[in-house]
Amino acid sequence: MAINTLRLRPTLRILLDEHLALAAVLKGMQALLRQSRQVGQPPDLETLRAMVFYLDEFPEQHHHRKESDLLFPKIRARSVESRDLLDHLGAEHDQGIFAIHRLEHALLAFEVMGDSRREAFECALERYTDFYLSHMRQEEQEAFPLAQKVLTTQDWDELDAEFSLQTDPLLARDRNGVYRDLYRRIADHVRLPGLAGAG
Ligand SMILES: [Fe+2]
Ligand SMILES: [Fe+2]
Repeated sequence: MAINTLRLRPTLRILLDEHLALAAVLKGMQALLRQSRQVGQPPDLETLRAMVFYLDEFPEQHHHRKESDLLFPKIRARSVESRDLLDHLGAEHDQGIFAIHRLEHALLAFEVMGDSRREAFECALERYTDFYLSHMRQEEQEAFPLAQKVLTTQDWDELDAEFSLQTDPLLARDRNGVYRDLYRRIADHVRLPGLAGAG
């Protein structure tokens, strides 16, 4: 099933933009590590730390929670066939908390222990990246199209009202708010092309 991009309600637009932001940060982290290898210098650990903090603070605490607590229950209520899919995606959200802690620990170990722990951090980042890219793909190819198929106008109105506040500092271009230092620290390393909500 494919998502109908011509009929995107604000809820799905926000979730798709947040997927792009998450993927862009993961790619930004990998690019920093690649560049440091190419020039034979240590990577910019402060920026990597800010990026891992972002992953924990927004995708983990806000994005997945909005899906698990707001969107998925509405899909479940309208479609019995969604049960296995949403159980699986919800279980991955729960695993995400452990996955980000493993990544944080691996980065800390790299900072404290130096090059002997670099490869372990790179592997942890690759695992985390693969895990989320596949999770987001399944949401975009199965869960979101199903939502478009089964949710009523009233469901969407309620969701849109709950989703109306964009809190992700990357997407909100938070240059002056409480997350301005975080935004400044990572924005230059993150490319956010083709946002669903742009325009
Ligand atoms: Fe998710
Ligand atoms: Fe998602």
